Amino acid sequence: MPRIPYTRRPVSTETALSLAQSELSLARERRSIRDFSDAPVPYELIEAAVRIACTAPSGANQQPFRFVIISDPAIKKQIREGAEAEEEEFYTHRAPKEWLDALAPIGTDTHKPFLEIAPYLIVVFREVHGVAEDGSRIKSYYGPESVGIAVGMLITALHRFGLATLTHTPAPMGFLNTLCNRPKNEKPFVLLPVGYPTENATVPDLPRKPENEMIFRL
Ligand SMILES: Cc1cc2nc3c(=O)[nH]c(=O)nc-3n(C[C@H](O)[C@H](O)[C@H](O)COP(=O)(O)O)c2cc1C
Repeated sequence: MPRIPYTRRPVSTETALSLAQSELSLARERRSIRDFSDAPVPYELIEAAVRIACTAPSGANQQPFRFVIISDPAIKKQIREGAEAEEEEFYTHRAPKEWLDALAPIGTDTHKPFLEIAPYLIVVFREVHGVAEDGSRIKSYYGPESVGIAVGMLITALHRFGLATLTHTPAPMGFLNTLCNRPKNEKPFVLLPVGYPTENATVPDLPRKPENEMIFRL
């Protein structure tokens, strides 16, 4: 493989320190939103955020992330119906009590109107294995880690653009393959409604762990 010069140059320490503070304040403001407005969002913002996510590092450079951007009301309706059916099963049968107890403070239930209201849904898929020309499987390396990093970049970019997201995982999400027209070797990873919050949106008053309890310096 030929090598090429890496041309990005460091910014000055002064600039970096000021950027670090403003980015930290901005990151602390991010919340998962469930009260979405139907106010339109410029497609260019969604596209730029997804393109940013496409630049994520990935195991063996396999780039196993796939992003399906949906604004078609008919498809959003079908996704809502599919998600609500899974959530109904989850809340009434599948979820063990401990899981329901852990979810209780967040106040979620089986109703997912935001899947129709938010102007965009981004469904992120993970390519579980590649497919060679002869139809044989190509092994994938660190797929979940790679897609997780890409989704983090996507959520961060959308937040920086002033947009709200919800990380939604109505498990199992197999119904999304059919609705999004994705092949069997891809697995739905997360469903992100994206839009602006309503003016009177609320979020659960959840505590975050003190950051210093999650950071260790040796
Ligand atoms: C992997 C993952 C799956 C999640 N799944 C759901 C979900 O299905 N429904 C939901 O309402 N929130 C879901 N969330 C959002 C979490 O509840 C939320 O991130 C957490 O309560 C912290 O709140 P915050 O994002 O506002 O800081 C999920 C978050 C993650 C990271």
